[in-house]
Amino acid sequence: MTDNYAVIGHPVAHSKSPQIHTHFAAQTGEDLCYTAILAPLDGFAATVRDFSASGGCGLNVTVPFKEEAFRLATRLSPRAQAAGAVNTLRFSGNEIFGDNTDGAGLVCDIEKNLDRALAGRRILLLGAGGAARGVILPLLLGNPARLVIANRTTQKAILLAAEFSRLPGRALALRPEGCGFADLSVESNVFDIIINATSAGLQGISLDIPDGLYAAGALAYEMVYGRETSFMTQARRAGMQVADGLGMLVEQAAEAFLLWRGVRPETAPILQELRGA
Ligand code: ATR
Repeated sequence: MTDNYAVIGHPVAHSKSPQIHTHFAAQTGEDLCYTAILAPLDGFAATVRDFSASGGCGLNVTVPFKEEAFRLATRLSPRAQAAGAVNTLRFSGNEIFGDNTDGAGLVCDIEKNLDRALAGRRILLLGAGGAARGVILPLLLGNPARLVIANRTTQKAILLAAEFSRLPGRALALRPEGCGFADLSVESNVFDIIINATSAGLQGISLDIPDGLYAAGALAYEMVYGRETSFMTQARRAGMQVADGLGMLVEQAAEAFLLWRGVRPETAPILQELRGA
C-alpha cells in the first residue's frame, strides 16, 4: 500500500516539497505519495490529527506552524528540542515524533554542495528569530572557531547566544557570542562564512551591517531562495562566493526523507532540476 506524506503550511501552494519528495521517491524506489495541505491558521492540530488518523505517515511543517508542531509532538529529537521548532513529523502508533532538519540541511549544503568545512571557520549568523535558532546547534556541532550571532535587536542575540552556551546534557567546545549589528564594526571581526537568517531579504530591505566583515574568499549564505536579496548583491559586489537557500531546502528534505524511509536520496539531480527551472 502506498504511504502518504505531505507538507502542511499556510500558505503552501508555492511549496517545492511535493516536487522534491516525489523525485526522491522515484529515485529510491520508495512507494509513497506526497501532497500539500493548506491548514487553517486556527486548525493546525486538528488537520494533523485528521491526516494521521487517515493513515498518513509523516508531515513536513512550514510557516507559520513550526512552533505549534513542536508543541504537538509527543517526542522530540535533540535538534528539535534545541531549535524550539519542528519541521518534520513522523507518526507511529500513538507517537508523534518531531524533528528539525533545517540546520542539518544548511550544514550539509555548506559542507557538501559548497565544499566548505565548518571546522575552524569563523561564522557570523545574522538574525535571532526562529530561522536563526533552528540552525545554531548544527553549526556548533560543526566545530567552527567562532560563532557570532548578530541581530538588529541586540538583546535577542545576546539571550540566544547565552541559551546555546549551556545546553543541558551537551558539552560544546564553543560558546556562541551575541551582539548587535553596530558591535560588528571592530577590526578583529572578520568572517569566513556569513549566513543571513533575518527576514529582511523577504521584505526587500538591506541590512545595516558594516563593510569589511568578509575574509578573502568568504562565503555569503542567504537562507531565502528564489530571489536576489540585497545581502546577496552586496556580497557579490565585494567579490564573495554567494549561495541562496535552495540547497538548504533540498538537503533538509533529504534529511526528512531519511527519517521517514531510512534511505538518504541523492540531492544533486533535483537541485540541478530546480536551478534549471
Ligand atoms: P523567522 O522565523 O524568519 O526567523 P522571526 O522569528 O520573526 O522570523 O525573526 C525575524 C528576524 O529577522 C529577526 O532576527 C529580526 O530582527 P529583530 O529581532 O531585530 O526584529 C530580523 N529582521 C527582520 N526585518 C529586519 C530588517 N529590516 N533589518 C534587520 N533585521 C531584520
